[in-house]
Amino acid sequence: MSTISTGKYYIVEHLEPEMGEWSELEYATISTECAKTGGKLYLTSLPTSLLGNLPGRLVEHTVSGRLIATSIEVSQLSEIKSERVCLLDPAAQTDLKPEDGEIFDTYVFGGILGDDPPRDRTSELRKYGYQGRRLGPKQMTTDTAVRVTRMVVEDKLPLYKIPYVDFPELKLSKHESTEMPFRYVLGENGQPIMPEGMVELIKKDADKSFDF
Ligand SMILES: C[S@@+](CC[C@H](N)C(=O)[O-])C[C@H]1O[C@@H](n2cnc3c(N)ncnc32)[C@H](O)[C@@H]1O
Repeated sequence: MSTISTGKYYIVEHLEPEMGEWSELEYATISTECAKTGGKLYLTSLPTSLLGNLPGRLVEHTVSGRLIATSIEVSQLSEIKSERVCLLDPAAQTDLKPEDGEIFDTYVFGGILGDDPPRDRTSELRKYGYQGRRLGPKQMTTDTAVRVTRMVVEDKLPLYKIPYVDFPELKLSKHESTEMPFRYVLGENGQPIMPEGMVELIKKDADKSFDF
C-alpha cells in the first residue's frame, strides 16, 4: 500500500556527542511514525564518526528510505526554504496551531535528551533564525514533540485537545518507581506513548545505577 506524502519535512538536529540507546529508540520511533503519514524525516548534523557507525536499528531505517541521516546541518539542506521552516522551541512566544501547517512545511527539533531542570539547549538552534513555536509549557521528549507537532499540523488538533499525561510514574520493580519529568501523549491504553523498548531501557539503566 502506498502512502500519500504530506509534503512535510521533519528534521531532528542531533546535538548529543554520542548516539545513546535512548536517542536510538526515539529516532527509530519518529522514523516509523513519520513514514506512516508520508512525512520525510532527516537526522542532521551527525558527526561523521557517528554517521559511519549508526546502530543497526537506524541503519535499517536509512536503507528503507524512511530516514535520511546526514552530517550536514539543517540550513544546508537544499530541499528546504527557510521562510517555511518552524523551530519547535520551548522558549518560543507563540504556541503551534493547526493553521501553522499552511505557513510551514518543515519542522526542526533538537535531538537532545531531556534534562531536569531543562537547560535550554534548544537555544543552539536559534542561530538559524527560523520562526519558533512552542508546544505548550511542559518539556517533552523529542519523539513526543514530533508526535504532537504532527497531530497539530497534519491532524489539525489544537494543542489543548491532545490527551497528555505529565510526569508519569514508571514502576521499575515491586518496590521501586521513577517519575519521568516530561509531558507525554496519552495512548488509547491509558499509558504514556513511549518508544518500543524504552521502559525496558529505563529499567536496565536504573539497575545499573543500583550496582555498586
Ligand atoms: C527533550 S527536548 C529538549 C528540551 C531541553 N531540555 C532543552 O535543553 O532545550 C528535545 C526537543 O523537543 C522539542 N520540544 C520539547 N518540548 C517542547 C515544547 N514544550 N515546546 C516546543 N518544543 C519542544 C524541542 O525541539 C527540543 O529541542
